[in-house]
Amino acid sequence: MAMTDTSAAARRRALLRLLADGGLHSGAELAKRLGVSRAAVWKILRATAEELDLEIRSLRGKGYMLPVPLELLDPARIESSLSEPTRGLLSGVEVLESVSSTNSRLMRLARDGAPTGRVCLAERQLAGRGRSGRSWVSPFGSNIYLSILWRYALAPAELGGLSIACGVAAARALRAAGCAEIGLKWPNDLHWRRRKLGGLLLDIAGESQGPSCAVVGIGINLRLSPRQAAGIDQPWTDLAEALAGASADAPATAQGRAMPGRNALAAGLIETLVSALSDFGNRGLDPFLADWRAFDSYLGEPVALIMGERRVTGTLAGVAPDGALLLDTDSGRRAFHAGEVSLRPATAPAPEVRAQGRAGSR
Ligand code: BTN
Repeated sequence: MAMTDTSAAARRRALLRLLADGGLHSGAELAKRLGVSRAAVWKILRATAEELDLEIRSLRGKGYMLPVPLELLDPARIESSLSEPTRGLLSGVEVLESVSSTNSRLMRLARDGAPTGRVCLAERQLAGRGRSGRSWVSPFGSNIYLSILWRYALAPAELGGLSIACGVAAARALRAAGCAEIGLKWPNDLHWRRRKLGGLLLDIAGESQGPSCAVVGIGINLRLSPRQAAGIDQPWTDLAEALAGASADAPATAQGRAMPGRNALAAGLIETLVSALSDFGNRGLDPFLADWRAFDSYLGEPVALIMGERRVTGTLAGVAPDGALLLDTDSGRRAFHAGEVSLRPATAPAPEVRAQGRAGSR
């Protein structure tokens, strides 16, 4: 009998849950647990691997296994890890197996009247978006793709510093997860040892005098294989490497920290982001400026700002109370706002300025 879409998806989920531990599972065991034939197990496995671009190893005569254990996202687990005040500020947490973009989805829901505090996470994005129209590499089951919808009485123009507040919030969560060297690069990049670990994308809409709504999206590389990252055209890293303390230039010298579970990390991010979204509405950027300075990877360093064909060099002097980047130039201190401005170390060659993304598509 042909499976309906729904039952196929349910069986795929059940199969992934069985394989998630990374152990070896025989075809007979999987068939019994799923209540289907061994031939059907094989078909589901093949379709799952193909559809999700997921590596499932088949050991002849022994069974099947995932090369790396998988912790699927679970909205109930995430919600139960949140503090009471944070839960009180949320209007719902959803986890989708697949979505074009968590940001685009929440912007659509916002237009349809969704209330503030809506959270969307996905196991993968088919059209994940980065800054400046670039794409965001979003393979299944291994990273974090998270968006939160927040409504403000403020005008959209007053939300200029929000991305700075949210960057600080994300860095606080990653530091709490053990990533001691987490850094921020203005306006929206999360860095570890000058390599991109993640990024934020803010979509803002509203009436010119307010109210407004913001969708804050964050993507964090937890485990990205070289194959998945093949199209990324700037130095990148993932949390597994950052916590192991290893890098190409300093191989595995540090003791290393345990990887947090994806649900725990998602909860930690929601916790700090919701608190930042709420604080920003009440107190603006003030509660975040000191932490931004502490996390700023390039503070006091020579940098270049690129605006299309224009290039301005100077020494990075931090961020202004409205979120603008401050640069000490030969002609004095100047302020620059985000948008199409991109920052790079003054010595970096041109290709390094691009946000993490697939060559050609970002
Ligand atoms: C950047 O550094 O260019 C920003 C990347 C933002 C990626 C996240 S993943 C979740 C959310 N949904 C998207 O489509 N983009 C953001």
